[in-house]
Amino acid sequence: MKTADRLDNFKAYLGPAMNQKIALMKADGRDIINLGLGDPDTTPPEHILTALNDAVTNPNNHHYPSAYPIQPLYQAIADWYKKRYSVEIDPATEILYLMGAAEGLFQMPNCLLDPGDTALVADPAYPSYEAGIRIAGGEVAFYPLLAENDFLPDLDNIPTDMAKKAKMIWVNFPNNPTAAVADETFYKKLVDWAKEYDVWVLSDNPYMEISFDGYRPPSFLSVPGATDVGVELNSMSKSFNCCGWRVGMMLGNRAIIEGMMKIKSQADRGIFYPLQAAATAAFTGPVDWMEERNRIFAERRDVVHGAWTKMGLEMTKPKATFYCWGKIPKGYKSRDFSMNLLEEQNVWMIPGSTYGEAGEGYVRISNAQPAERLAEAMERIKKFIS
Ligand SMILES: Cc1ncc(COP(=O)(O)O)c(C=O)c1O
Repeated sequence: MKTADRLDNFKAYLGPAMNQKIALMKADGRDIINLGLGDPDTTPPEHILTALNDAVTNPNNHHYPSAYPIQPLYQAIADWYKKRYSVEIDPATEILYLMGAAEGLFQMPNCLLDPGDTALVADPAYPSYEAGIRIAGGEVAFYPLLAENDFLPDLDNIPTDMAKKAKMIWVNFPNNPTAAVADETFYKKLVDWAKEYDVWVLSDNPYMEISFDGYRPPSFLSVPGATDVGVELNSMSKSFNCCGWRVGMMLGNRAIIEGMMKIKSQADRGIFYPLQAAATAAFTGPVDWMEERNRIFAERRDVVHGAWTKMGLEMTKPKATFYCWGKIPKGYKSRDFSMNLLEEQNVWMIPGSTYGEAGEGYVRISNAQPAERLAEAMERIKKFIS
């Protein structure tokens, strides 16, 4: 007996294996500073924990999720999008829950691609886009995110035959791993380009609420015509410091929402009701705590960016996300740099090559650690490269 050949078509996600390795190293007594985690160390605001607690201790709230109306959550999400991003979304037909945005990354190709169809993915990019396309039997065509373009896609440089062949394109701004941001002009161009070449746009946007220095990332859906060509994926993970909840959503094009609804009607049974109730409280509740959370991330970004550039290494100062994308010294491969740094100085950061060939020569640093630990990590790196 043999498992399916398609398992050979994609790589396993690196995160869990590295986290296990680091846990064992810590158990050996090593003082590891893990800057690989995409999970905020900052905590959810109290009012949503209270809502979760109240809902979970009610014995009537433990049935299949379909026993409870999901409309209050969808209305809360629609109101959130209107209030935060000036986007009008119909909660009855244009929203669908996800088990975190990650579920959408993996399932969306099943909804949009037939075997052999081509999908466009950035290089570098979060690895789940490629994995989802490959397991659905699709072909991946990469477009580069280059430093000279501020890590934004150069749509004019996507070859015409590739654009004509593509059925969908993934975009992600604020971006993981580069921390790049896109403005409305870019999204307008993207919608025109998608209409010209008949390509679905999937905007993965879980970092929209983590931004600094007065900058606010726009939604892809804020551009006229966006819902004709695509959807946006979002989640409570990063915005509300709730990675463990696995509560996300997609919004936009009705045909995609309906298709995904059909897939999900077989694949899962909905979001545990107490989580729905707590998510509703999050989207309708106060947001002032986010300012303080973002101030903490900005302070940490300054620690990392300041130390990195002082070492003579390149790094653009991020306006959003809790990542920094740093160039490593010439002569190193990013995987060797990260692995040797871990062995010699007990600091872990993700090799840029994990995100694709164009990530070679970079590392992704997560600022999900207190400022003092980040400063200590930067001191250790200084020793490592000197
Ligand atoms: C770009 C990007 N998309 C999606 C996800 C998945 O997020 P979620 O926790 O909502 O599944 C992540 C998580 O790190 C991410 O960085």
